Amino acid sequence: MIETITELDALRARVRGWKREGLRVGFVPTMGNLHAGHYSLVMLARQYADRVVSSVFVNPTQFGPNEDYTRYPRTVDADVSGLDGAGCDVLWLPTVESMYPFGVELAAKVHVPGVSSVLEGAHRPGHFDGVCTVVSRLFNQVLPDVAAFGKKDYQQLAVIRQMVADLAFPVEILAGSIVRETDGLAMSSRNQYLSAEERPVAAEIRRTLLAMRDGIAAGRPRAEVEAAASRQLDAAGYAVDYTVVRRPDLSEPADGEPGARVALIAARLGRTRLIDNLEF
Ligand code: PAJ
Repeated sequence: MIETITELDALRARVRGWKREGLRVGFVPTMGNLHAGHYSLVMLARQYADRVVSSVFVNPTQFGPNEDYTRYPRTVDADVSGLDGAGCDVLWLPTVESMYPFGVELAAKVHVPGVSSVLEGAHRPGHFDGVCTVVSRLFNQVLPDVAAFGKKDYQQLAVIRQMVADLAFPVEILAGSIVRETDGLAMSSRNQYLSAEERPVAAEIRRTLLAMRDGIAAGRPRAEVEAAASRQLDAAGYAVDYTVVRRPDLSEPADGEPGARVALIAARLGRTRLIDNLEF
């Protein structure tokens, strides 16, 4: 049975006990409202660890002033039973006050330059500072040996890897594949903001990613592929933030240069901002 822990001392005691027994500790940080994508990360962590801790914490510092912090879906009871079913041992459920004991204004912040500044970082100023600030705190609270992050948030994974390398966190980072609905829409807690009319249109993001991959494979120039993708989403009723093809480290490739690529999209459908990506 899963154990829910709300006090840092109790969490530390539990993890200390495991480590005394020589057990490896895995960690999956989340903001709750869990779905199959989150549970796949718990199962991934399980493959590399003897015990798994998952956290549910809607982190105020990673939301912009006009974003959905207050209306972000909070469903802890369902999350507890889902985590139990996925084989999670401990749910770490901190409060905002315990995560930021000196308050959000006086909190020590973690900023990772470079990879944080493009794409999501450019469209959501301060977002990755909030993510790194909370993930570094969570790592210090849980002291995991491995931690799993989803490729759904491709840039977040890159930023976390950079932070771990630079600050020498003794944590191995695992990357989980994107879990999708049957029509190709990447699972996300934000999908429930979509209206019944918008929901089928949301699958256009995945179709656009596939068209971007095919365009590059056919030898078309990157700028042309990116512009066509933007028009495709525009025509479906989206307000596009970006449609880009990048190297895996998110730098810009030259036309004709061989190597692995990732297509990334961020676009708004009504009130809902969706992100997705495709590696090829
Ligand atoms: P959240 O959006 O709850 O996501 C938690 C983890 O689940 C992230 O690593 C995310 O990439 C992964 N995830 C979400 N949807 C997924 C899907 N469809 N397939 C696979 N993995 C998926 O990301 C955050 O929370 C926060 O920024 C956090 C890291 C917890 C810091 O607050």
